[in-house]
Amino acid sequence: SPTRQFFVGGNFKLNPGTLQAKKDIVEILNKADIDTSAEVVIAPPSLYLLPLQQILRKEIKVAAQNSYLKTSGAFTGEISPTQLADAGIPYVILGHSERRTIFNETSDVVAQKTRAALDAGLSVILCVGETLKEREANQTKQVVEDQLKPVVDILKENDWSKIVVAYEPVWAIGTGKVATSAQAQEAHADIRTFLSSAVSSSVAEATRILYGGSVTASNCKELGNQKDVDGFLVGGASLKPEFVDIINARR
Ligand code: G3P
Repeated sequence: SPTRQFFVGGNFKLNPGTLQAKKDIVEILNKADIDTSAEVVIAPPSLYLLPLQQILRKEIKVAAQNSYLKTSGAFTGEISPTQLADAGIPYVILGHSERRTIFNETSDVVAQKTRAALDAGLSVILCVGETLKEREANQTKQVVEDQLKPVVDILKENDWSKIVVAYEPVWAIGTGKVATSAQAQEAHADIRTFLSSAVSSSVAEATRILYGGSVTASNCKELGNQKDVDGFLVGGASLKPEFVDIINARR
């Protein structure tokens, strides 16, 4: 939709690579001819947020890959949303399937983290998505709604202006098995319908819904032309020069 600004996020995850390797990626982005009508965010490991933010062109923002549900205290190893905000980091990714699966984050915890991030002044890229087993059992819509429900319950209507939803089917993440554009469109439309009934029609209309899972330069155009696909959350390909082509998918 022309009213929703196209959004492309690069999730570097915990990929190996030195600060220099990350700077090389930033150099490519800094020099590239990118669609300035798109909102672009990269999410390096937290150790690299500040040095990369300092050298990035101003059109590209950084996102943390996680933050805790408390703002400070005795929580060894965590990173607080208040501290991210204090460091000028505008975005945080929450509820990524790797956090849910490997680190046992429930949808309730994800909702509490979302609340804490918004209270700190951050914007949130909120990830949802079903496993292959769930898709094969025709549970995709229900699973995604169950993941969104605790967030809906903990947010007020105006909080949604700071939320970007990322639909990432687990079976498509890092597998090279991208969802078809029809599968993505269907899931995105279902999410929008859910937001309309659970929150409001204006929130449903305004909220960006990104697709994530094996997005590449070659599949991004078709996916990005679907009515309810408002951008991408990109893993592997965000570490490569083709990330520029994905940013420019709508051009
Ligand atoms: O958060 C983005 C991610 O999970 C997708 O990863 O490598 O399939 O693009 P990838």
